[in-house]
Amino acid sequence: RILIIDYGSQYTQLIARRVREARVYSEIHPPTRSVEWVREWNPTGIILSGGPNSVYGENVPTADPALLDVAPTLGVCYGMQLISHLLGGEVIRGAHREYGRDEVIIDEGEALFAGFTPGERTQVWMSHGDHVEKAPPGFRVVAHSGKQAIAAIRHESKPILAVQFHPEVAHTPRGSEIIANFLFDTCRCTPDWTPGAFIEEEVAKIRAQVGNARVICGLSGGVDSSVAAALVHRAIGDQLTCIFVDNGLLRLHEREQVERTFRAHLGIDLRVVDASQQFLDALAGVDDPETKRKRIGHTFIDVFEEAAQSVGDDVRFLVQGTLYPDVIESVSPTGGPSVTIKSHHNVGGLKPDMKFALIEPLRELFKDEVRNVGRELGLPEEMVGRHPFPGPGLGIRVISDVTQEKLDVLRQADAIYLEEIRSAGLYNEIWQAFAVLLPIRSVGVMGDERTYENVLALRAVTSTDGMTADWFHFPHEVLGRISNRIIREVTGINRVVYDVSSKPPATIEWE
Ligand code: XMP
Repeated sequence: RILIIDYGSQYTQLIARRVREARVYSEIHPPTRSVEWVREWNPTGIILSGGPNSVYGENVPTADPALLDVAPTLGVCYGMQLISHLLGGEVIRGAHREYGRDEVIIDEGEALFAGFTPGERTQVWMSHGDHVEKAPPGFRVVAHSGKQAIAAIRHESKPILAVQFHPEVAHTPRGSEIIANFLFDTCRCTPDWTPGAFIEEEVAKIRAQVGNARVICGLSGGVDSSVAAALVHRAIGDQLTCIFVDNGLLRLHEREQVERTFRAHLGIDLRVVDASQQFLDALAGVDDPETKRKRIGHTFIDVFEEAAQSVGDDVRFLVQGTLYPDVIESVSPTGGPSVTIKSHHNVGGLKPDMKFALIEPLRELFKDEVRNVGRELGLPEEMVGRHPFPGPGLGIRVISDVTQEKLDVLRQADAIYLEEIRSAGLYNEIWQAFAVLLPIRSVGVMGDERTYENVLALRAVTSTDGMTADWFHFPHEVLGRISNRIIREVTGINRVVYDVSSKPPATIEWE
């Protein structure tokens, strides 16, 4: 397994992904880990990430040179400058940051570039301020960039390598090969990190952690909590009870779909609590988005706690679908190794009052890995491949105050929208697609009648993590079909518009 030390690059998570795509397990840790800690962790290899700092800056994250003797090491960008700096090479401070595509010329016989032709120019992505002018003693240069600058170095006898460019980004088209060469040639890793192996290992851990106690899980119907529940069920069977709160803010037939999958298909003890009226009451007259979120969150906690109590006194554990990006400790981009931990806010903002210990079986996984684990556990594709859906549900997609009537209108329109996206074969190309009911009425004409009804906005975005997003470029005829159907079939909507804003500066949701 590979230890990635995070020096604050925006690409660090991509390094972890590339390594795991090569079926080698990896974790990201901050540079504050001691050499003893690292030895204990026992990595097969270490990757030092890039970062925004200069090795000459004050209070910048560094490394104990002894780290380089623990396991084979690859430095990337700042990681390379750090290795060079620590071992007596010459790092030149850049006046400004250079970034963009560059070409690198590969030297003969370098195992890091096995599969490349010597002398070949390969496209790479650079993003650095400083650069290494002279390799440290004992190192040789194994790749140059166009201007004879040093692009990669390797120690003559120790397994220490470094690259100035970023092999982890898509703009370095053959970067995955370079990473694989490090993993399999230098580190001699075994590619055995698979969903099946993960499940086996997790099942054993969960059994050991839980013993005979009872466990509850709040199901949201989304991918993360569903996979977490299925995994825990695989480990402890009937000791698990799932609670699904119908908050009345769900999509069409969502509750039935969850019931079918979990009860009928997986045989899980599922308790469905219909609390729609309670949520509607809490939302009555509220139009501020953050107030809506708070009311929905608080109501959820009340309802969930009551349901949890009714399961029994012997409930010791709560399952949560926390994912890796939520828990990564990372260096703040501004410098000093400060630690940021994002808290999980799915399942409607559940903050258990710690009567229960947490089971978070997915906290080491990325979303795409969670999907693969779900498939391996036998969850249906329609569940595993679902678009993300926010905890507050349709409550933040009915703009302004929420009523039962508005929810019903939105639900119908949203269902038609998704149905048409699926039948056009576009569902998997889109990160998230949904309809938003606007509090605006417009004039229309139906037959000979004048209508004065609501406007519906359609949103569809592509994204890899929800942090940034582009609006999806629908074929016009698909948009036309969706609009026609919604206006014809949904009473209360006489106009449909498409949202062409990217994030940033817009957000994915409207509220
Ligand atoms: P934004 O609108 O911030 O959304 O661009 C990014 C992603 O987060 C989801 N989202 C939420 N999820 N509770 C959630 O569980 C929320 O309050 C919430 N707000 C936004 C959104 O659907 C998108 O996937």
